[in-house]
Amino acid sequence: MNILVTAGPTRESIDPVRFISNRSSGKMGYAIASAAHSRGHSVRLVSGPVSLPVPSGVDVVSVESAAQMHAAVVESLPKCNVLIMSAAVADWRPGTVNTRKLKKHTMDGCLLLERTTDILQEIRPLKGDRLFVGFAAETHDVIAEAERKLKEKGLDLIIANDVSARDSGFAVDTNRVTLIDTRGNIERWPLLSKTEVAKRLLERVERSCCWTRP
Ligand code: PMT
Repeated sequence: MNILVTAGPTRESIDPVRFISNRSSGKMGYAIASAAHSRGHSVRLVSGPVSLPVPSGVDVVSVESAAQMHAAVVESLPKCNVLIMSAAVADWRPGTVNTRKLKKHTMDGCLLLERTTDILQEIRPLKGDRLFVGFAAETHDVIAEAERKLKEKGLDLIIANDVSARDSGFAVDTNRVTLIDTRGNIERWPLLSKTEVAKRLLERVERSCCWTRP
């Protein structure tokens, strides 16, 4: 299959030296891309800024902002059968990007923000028979919030992360996730390495697409 994976954070510039971002390291998305490649799939990875080596055999498109990630996903979508959105896309960006470094004495402490594009919402009409998998990073009401996002974003499957635990979610090597599908099936996985989460997720995606290893 042709699998499109997004990973890492996005950065939304305030000025040439400052930005808004989040704690995503890219580890989860890179593990998914590596697992997909080693299972024989053709993989494109749209990656925000991370400090991880490029996974071998994977076609990496590097982006910085949510707008750039949106454009790269739209460009890559026609060739893919499966989209796995594990990136932590910034929900907000500064209303204006200053081309010169802001000086402390000109700042009044207020930053006017505007919403970034919700990539999954925007590409929903282009879904066709592709499988769309999302992630939900939550600190409270993890399952309820993930179920809401599954419906609102028109996904086939969502992976809920409880990011309030120290050994799960952002920037660690392990993750404790719950899979929720459109039939209301809820599957809780124990604490696993991100490599193992990626492998099990790919097995699940392959079953959903009735794909068997050649
Ligand atoms: O990178 P790591 O350090 O390994 O951490 C992994 C992770 C915690 C970042 C990852 O497993 C994860 O949970 N990613 C999704 C984080 C997130 O931003 O979730 P969300 O609830 O805000 O978004 C829900 C879904 O919508 C996600 O699939 C997201 O990619 C997508 N989204 C979000 C915002 C936006 N503007 N456009 C989107 O498409």
